[in-house]
Amino acid sequence: MNKIDVVLGLQWGDEGKGKVVDVLTPSYKVIARFQGGPNAGHSLKFNDDGFVLHTVPSGIFRENTLNIIGNGVVVDPVILMDEISQIEAKGLDITEKLVIAKRAHLILPTHRMLDAASEAAKGKSKIGSTLKGIGPAYMDKTGRNGLRIGDILSPDFTAKYEALKRKHQSLLAQYPGFEYDITEYEQKWLAAVEQLKRFKFIESELVVNNYLDNGLPVLAEGAQGSMLDIDFGTYPFVTSSNTMTAGVCTGLGVAPSRVGKVFGIFKAYCTRVGSGPFPTELFDETGERLRSIGREYGATTGRPRRCGWLDLVALKYAVMMNGVTDLIMMKSDVMNDFDTIKVATAYKVGEKTCDYLPYGAGDDIEPVYTEFPGWKEDICGVREYAAFPQAFKNYVKFIEEQTGCPIRIISVGPDRIEVVIR
Ligand code: GDP
Ligand code: IMO
Ligand code: MG
Repeated sequence: MNKIDVVLGLQWGDEGKGKVVDVLTPSYKVIARFQGGPNAGHSLKFNDDGFVLHTVPSGIFRENTLNIIGNGVVVDPVILMDEISQIEAKGLDITEKLVIAKRAHLILPTHRMLDAASEAAKGKSKIGSTLKGIGPAYMDKTGRNGLRIGDILSPDFTAKYEALKRKHQSLLAQYPGFEYDITEYEQKWLAAVEQLKRFKFIESELVVNNYLDNGLPVLAEGAQGSMLDIDFGTYPFVTSSNTMTAGVCTGLGVAPSRVGKVFGIFKAYCTRVGSGPFPTELFDETGERLRSIGREYGATTGRPRRCGWLDLVALKYAVMMNGVTDLIMMKSDVMNDFDTIKVATAYKVGEKTCDYLPYGAGDDIEPVYTEFPGWKEDICGVREYAAFPQAFKNYVKFIEEQTGCPIRIISVGPDRIEVVIR
């Protein structure tokens, strides 16, 4: 019996999950997304080409892998079909390589409108949602009103769709002054629903468990990050799914005892897009440097990402709850030319110092920093650990000591080949 390994983000998303999944895929037979939806933007780079995936698993460009959109995912057929067309425009036919769980929920055009109306009504306290309809779609799932991929094949799909749309329209009427027109998007949506029928809709829980029973390796690909988890993130500034290891069990139908390695990904610094607490955020020139050197602009929305120092308090919290077995550090190269690098090792909240993320953590947190001299060397070309400068190794060692977890992979550039595996 094989185990299911997991790749997930330990911060606020955009840690580099897409790249890592693409790098690890040759060791797996199945890559499966288990939660989230097209709020995700996973960037891949290889052969001087770049790609951003939103719903399709990041194993799609490798040969001999099955890519599963699992039951825990919410799917917008327009975005998915658009993505599929872009992939197929590269000369790939992915009809056999991509399958979709019948139990995955659909994002309707009106879910997007509800997302926009809700954000507009929140004014200054808005979440900063990607406005892809994620929250409203998961609300209908847990509210037991949702439409699922499997419903597409039902003879009364149109009636079901119209009924849910009407419900949404009456909800939208509760937002005075919110005007919307879904005509054009709805047309595309209905056409995309038809086009999706060329893919297999499956009971993905059976397929995943069957692969594992036959000793074949499966990798689960997370979206968003642990600090955006609906339960343990910086609520309410979070997404609407369980982004952590536990989400793999419900999002794919695998037992906790079948989870194997948990690859926890983090950037050598920190970013966040959207609103909400970010204790180590930098508002100065250093933050601006991280943003411009790291090209920190959202892969889905193009919004500038907020940037700051690595937050070990939040990272340790995420390592604990995900049961991380292997850490993966990304984008170290962005700080190649920094004189000093800081890392938060504790928070000061009023008179108290704490080494964990307290309930309701907000703007009252002041990080306590440990400083490191920068390595001041270009590490993009490094391909084996021994070749890293000592100052860089010291940084790695400190993070390993603090988290109690080994850093097994270090990424030194966006390309698939820019990676050091220890
Ligand atoms: P994801 O959502 O976790 O898959 O991450 P994103 O794709 O949204 O954001 C990560 C960004 O960093 C993308 O633009 C990647 O191409 C880029 N990237 C990934 N790893 C590295 C790295 O090690 N160094 C640099 N400079 N860029 C990287
Ligand atoms: P990947 O998978 C970074 C953020 C949004 C917003 C909050 C809620 O690329 O790492 P939602 O659209 O879910 O209603 O947004 O979560 N967010 C992400 N931030 N990376 C993501 O995905 C994100 N998906 C959602 O910016 O703050
Ligand atoms: Mg992203």
